[in-house]
Amino acid sequence: MVDEVEAKQNIGIKQLQYLLDGNEADYLKERAVAVRKQYYGTDVYIRGLIEFTNYCRNNCYYCGIRRGNSQVDRYRLSSKDILDCCAEGYRLGFRTFVLQGGEDLFFTDEKICQLIKSIKKGFPDCAVTLSIGEKSRDSYEKYFAAGADRYLLRHETANYEHYRQLHPPDLSLDNRKRCLKALKGIGYQVGAGFMVGSPGQTKETIYEDLQFLRELNPHMVGIGPFIPQGDTPFGKEQAGTVDMTVTLLAIIRLLLPRVLLPATTALGTIDTMGREKGLMSGANVVMPNLSPKRVRAKYALYDKKICTGEEAAECIECLKNRVGNIGYRIVCSRGDYIDR
Ligand code: SAM
Ligand code: FES
Repeated sequence: MVDEVEAKQNIGIKQLQYLLDGNEADYLKERAVAVRKQYYGTDVYIRGLIEFTNYCRNNCYYCGIRRGNSQVDRYRLSSKDILDCCAEGYRLGFRTFVLQGGEDLFFTDEKICQLIKSIKKGFPDCAVTLSIGEKSRDSYEKYFAAGADRYLLRHETANYEHYRQLHPPDLSLDNRKRCLKALKGIGYQVGAGFMVGSPGQTKETIYEDLQFLRELNPHMVGIGPFIPQGDTPFGKEQAGTVDMTVTLLAIIRLLLPRVLLPATTALGTIDTMGREKGLMSGANVVMPNLSPKRVRAKYALYDKKICTGEEAAECIECLKNRVGNIGYRIVCSRGDYIDR
């Protein structure tokens, strides 16, 4: 079955069911690693994540920083804070900075463009990735013109009914898709993705996710386990599992051989060896936190998030050791998508 999926770069629902049940699990990972090595060797790219605001106008049911969560201690980083994070990151070897935040209207297009320009001016050999949610095409074009290279916007689920279970009615899958299409059309390297084990997710919705990803053919795919956050409507739901997440990472590697695939912080949160397990299943990116230590715990998308007490330098040292221990190596380059 694994050989067939690899050869066709496609998967049927029965095959998905079979692999999610744990059949051929070792061989699946072996092939995913072989494919990743064919394109990326043992290199692991690092992205410095700067969580610059935890204000959000949205109210996604799963998300710890949703508008309706009154327990959140809200913060915004200043431009100086953000540039300081980049300087520290640059010193540590980061050549990609990811600006992530809630949909915070305080950061107007003008402010975002100014930020992008300042980062590009200070660190011209670095890539700037944005992860700031749904905007108009016009806004995306402005950010691109200001120098942004990449954009992360998980589609969350490709099934309409499931999308409605995860989000309030003012958010729609159609708009999410519109955004992703616009971003690709403008020329960004684009990342889509979804949570594994989110409430209401089924084999069928995952099958739709995988087919959606094949169709979109994004440069990056972010998947990590859903983890409940106690003050959200999904606070008492079950978390996604490591096994299911790594199985899906491996399948995605076979469907999209060149994709940039992170072993996420959420995966490292549900299992102390989660990120290593992800890398050993075809993932090739890690995204350590570069946000100032004082705000880290406030960007609590879910409970028990790891690396909230460490300085960036400690995180990268720890990761270098972890990655080295399993036979991979962290490289200090922009880590762009390999086109051919
Ligand atoms: N506002 C931007 C957006 O919507 O794309 C970026 C920030 S948002 C917090 C980033 C991602 O965090 C979401 O796409 C979602 O998949 C993930 N996330 C949110 N809550 C989560 C949870 N409880 N467990 C795991 N991942 C979660
Ligand atoms: Fe906006 Fe999660 S609800 S970032």
